[in-house]
Parts: sequence; C-alpha cells; structure tokens
Amino acid sequence: MIDEPFEPLPPDLAAALAHARAACGDRSLSLQYRSEVTSTNDVVARLASTGAAEGTTVIADRQTAGRGRHGRTWHSPPGAGLYMSVLFRPAEAAGAPDSQVDEDTALITLLAGVAASEALEATTGLRVDLKWPNDLVVEKQDPGGLRRLKVGGILAEGVAIGTLLHHVVLGIGINLRPSAYPPDIRDRATSIEEEVGRGPDRGALVAHLLIGLMQGRAELQAGRAHVVLQRWRDRATASIGREVQWDTPRGRLRGLTRGIDESGALLVDAGGDVHRIVAGEVTWL
Ligand code: BTN
Repeated sequence: MIDEPFEPLPPDLAAALAHARAACGDRSLSLQYRSEVTSTNDVVARLASTGAAEGTTVIADRQTAGRGRHGRTWHSPPGAGLYMSVLFRPAEAAGAPDSQVDEDTALITLLAGVAASEALEATTGLRVDLKWPNDLVVEKQDPGGLRRLKVGGILAEGVAIGTLLHHVVLGIGINLRPSAYPPDIRDRATSIEEEVGRGPDRGALVAHLLIGLMQGRAELQAGRAHVVLQRWRDRATASIGREVQWDTPRGRLRGLTRGIDESGALLVDAGGDVHRIVAGEVTWL
C-alpha cells in the first residue's frame, strides 16, 4: 500500500503538539497530519508495523473509508469532524495472551472516552456523557423523554503479532459541525457546533485530548486502572439503572445496567442474574 505524502502540521496542531509534549514531559509523542486518508486507523496501523513509537498520532481532514464499530461506515467529510488515531503499546506486550489484548483494548476504549469527554468539557463547556463501550453522547431531557445524541465515537483495534507483541490503534471521531454526520441520523446525532453555537478550538481540543490520553496511559501502566475506571463511571450516568437488551447465543436478554467491573465489562442484572458483557452490541432502551 502506498503511504500518503507527508504534510506539514497546520499551526494549531503544531501548537497542540508542543503544549502536550511540555505538559506530559514526553518527547516521544508525535503528531502527523494528512489532508486525506482512507482511515487514520489504517495509517497508524501501518506506522505501528514499521516500529512507530507509542504516542504516534495521526489526524486527517477527511477520511474516504472511515469506519466505526461492527463494520459501520464513519462519515468523514472534510473540515467537519476530528478524525484522529493514536498508537498504544501496552506495557505487558511481551507474551501477551489474546485475553490480555482484549482487556487492554477494552480499557483503552474507556480511557479514550474519559479523555475525550474531559477535553470537550474543558474546551467548550459541554457536558459529554459516556455510553458503554464507546459512544460520546449528549443527553437531553425533552417532554417526550430522555434523548441521547451521539457526538462522537471510539474505535480501538487491538492487534496481536504472534504471541510476542501487540499494539492497540485507538481511533477517535468527534462531530465538530453538523455536516460531520449524514442527514438521515439527524434524530440520533449532534455536533459541537449545534450544542455550543460554535466549533471548538481544534488545537486546544487536541492538546487536551493528547494530555488526557498520555496521563491515562501512565495510570494504566502503573497498575492504577481503577483511577481511569472511576473517572469513566463519573461521566457515564447510563451505566447504572438503565434498561438495555442484547443478543446471546441463547436468545435476546433484557436487564438493568449495574456499572462496569475492573476489566471494563458492562454488568447487567437480568432477573437477578448479573451478566458480564465484554463485547458485542448492546441496545439502550
Ligand atoms: C463508532 O462510534 O462506531 C466509532 C467511530 C470511530 C471513528 C474514528 S474517526 C478516526 C478513526 N478512523 C476511523 O476510521 N475510525 C476512527
């Protein structure tokens, strides 16, 4: 596959990188910009396979094949959204079994939600809730009931290479302007501009995001996943006492959310039996 040409960093992103490096004391943090890619996750995956360091980040103005969870398309027109991917190389990489890859990927998904929600609140004042496992949502109480509008999403792709090494490509997509999402999902989606009346300062948002991600990564590496999990719980009102349904090999089940456990799995009480949901699709009722 041919790599996209290297492009200079726009000034706001150059300032964001300098700010994040200074705040984290981490010079290995790097940021590349591309005007057009298939998917920033593809670019970071290729960079990972050629030995790129943890913290390697790619931001694109447009994605021609942006993707979401479960193979869905992530609409990514130019100038409308933040499309960003970051490389993580979890500390326990050597000899990691598949279950470790899955657990690291799950925790990094939650960490990304926390970092994105905190960065959005700090730079726009908007309160963004987290919906397990990967949605950034704005909750609205309307006369018709509670509505959850998706403003962004996270796609963490864990890759095992034999049993020797693995890495996680973390992709974050945030709707900055209404044109970021297709009109047919208008009743389920929103953008920062619609919520706060203006687009965010992209440089400030990216700087906060990178700092939050690197600080969270340090917590995970120091064995303090509980700190990240607690910050996730504080921003995930729907993770306790909300009705959900999900499909199992034995049919569809329904229950009330009971929070997340220490590995990031969603706990759901279905008629007194507490189920641990690790992956798959959960529908919030
Ligand atoms: C979802 O909600 O299903 C996850 C959406 C993730 C979208 C981001 S945009 C940057 C990165 N590149 C991709 O192709 N996807 C992620």
